[in-house]
Amino acid sequence: MDSPSEQKKLFNFTESKAYKEIYKERSILEIDYVPESLVGRDKQIQSIAEIYYPLGDKEKPKNTLIYGPPGSGKTVTIRHILNRLCSELPDVNIRDIIIPCGEHNTIVKILIFLIKGLGYEKDLPLRGVASGFFYDLFYELLRQKDYSLTLIFDEIDKIKDDSIIYNLIRAEEFKEVNGRQYIHIIGISNTDQFINSLGPIVASFFQPDTIVFPPYNEKQIIDILNNRIPLAFCPNAINKKIIELCAQLAADEGGDARRAILLLQAAGDMAIKTECNRVQSGHVPMAVDKINKDVSYRFVSNMSYGEKLVTLALIKTEKYLKPDKFVITGNVYKVYVDMCKKANIKPTSLGALSQKITKFNMMGILNATVTSRGRGGQTSEIIFINNPDFIEEAIYQDCKFVRYYNYVPNVK
Ligand SMILES: Nc1ncnc2c1ncn2[C@@H]1O[C@H](COP(=O)(O)OP(=O)(O)OP(=O)(O)O)[C@@H](O)[C@H]1O
Ligand SMILES: [Mg+2]
Repeated sequence: MDSPSEQKKLFNFTESKAYKEIYKERSILEIDYVPESLVGRDKQIQSIAEIYYPLGDKEKPKNTLIYGPPGSGKTVTIRHILNRLCSELPDVNIRDIIIPCGEHNTIVKILIFLIKGLGYEKDLPLRGVASGFFYDLFYELLRQKDYSLTLIFDEIDKIKDDSIIYNLIRAEEFKEVNGRQYIHIIGISNTDQFINSLGPIVASFFQPDTIVFPPYNEKQIIDILNNRIPLAFCPNAINKKIIELCAQLAADEGGDARRAILLLQAAGDMAIKTECNRVQSGHVPMAVDKINKDVSYRFVSNMSYGEKLVTLALIKTEKYLKPDKFVITGNVYKVYVDMCKKANIKPTSLGALSQKITKFNMMGILNATVTSRGRGGQTSEIIFINNPDFIEEAIYQDCKFVRYYNYVPNVK
């Protein structure tokens, strides 16, 4: 055992020699950092700026829906534009609130977020009060201000009840705000399907302009990384080959800039962990594993019991099916029903299982391609986008699933 004087400090990550040789400012690689300039988004910046042109005539900006795949720069672009709006038009009477709807997904949670966003600091009742109470308080606070609001619903598709959009859009008509005030709405989503999922009444009032964010190509991701590297890393800590490797991996996985930045950060952390004074190519696959593990654990921690069971049935089917065979919904359902029997629970219908698979497909966890099976109708051929081992490992962290650890399904 080390004597106390020789003992390595346990909590000295940022103090270590390796850390100081790798990082100049690690926080530049944090996801909410807003860079001074954005790569490859001139067209989108221009389109979003145009939403606000009516402000010049004291008119209301247009409600807008922005969509694009994960990591395509939607949130950072909006933040960048809002910063510029305030600095370039200091007299304009509009404030903004960005609502992360993944976290704040019910009417009450959203209204509480908005009430706090308007500076209300007193305690709010969390139970036994209807949403009307929160609407009234929100509008009362807004009337006390002399400005209008741009509300940016980030991940708008996560909202559980879209009537809030309808109510907020019609606030002026319902005389909830002062004559000169309005509420302007921007929605951000990963999919263009969001608009079709709205109820007909909401859809008829929320007729947004749309702005599309395409995925980045490898060259654009290299530029995004190169803009941060001199600020984040010490000179020579990282070389061109590492940057290209991270960019290529992220481009292959849907053109996701977030993944590229996280990869670079995880590779830097791996260099420190292995006490190297520069990042080497071997640190990148280690970083990939670390990120896949983190993503899998986060993904599973947000799943319901039923979702975990379906996912495990999918993983077991894929693992034990003959390599030349495709995983199809029918196979997964048989395995799922067998697993339910073992736990003595009632299985849901095939349709409900298919819906869960569609959800995982939309979340980018797997690829489910609908194929025609002659008389057998349609089915989905399913493949996991990444190796599902970490997802399986994360599911076993829930003791209700340990019983399936050695379970081998009867599939061929
Ligand atoms: N054009 C760009 N220039 C510089 N950095 C960028 C650019 N686009 C994205 N980034 C960075 O990549 C990361 C992901 O971007 P962002 O969060 O805006 O993606 P998103 O489209 O909102 O993704 P999601 O749909 O998952 O919310 C952020 O750290 C952001 O700063
Ligand atoms: Mg975002």
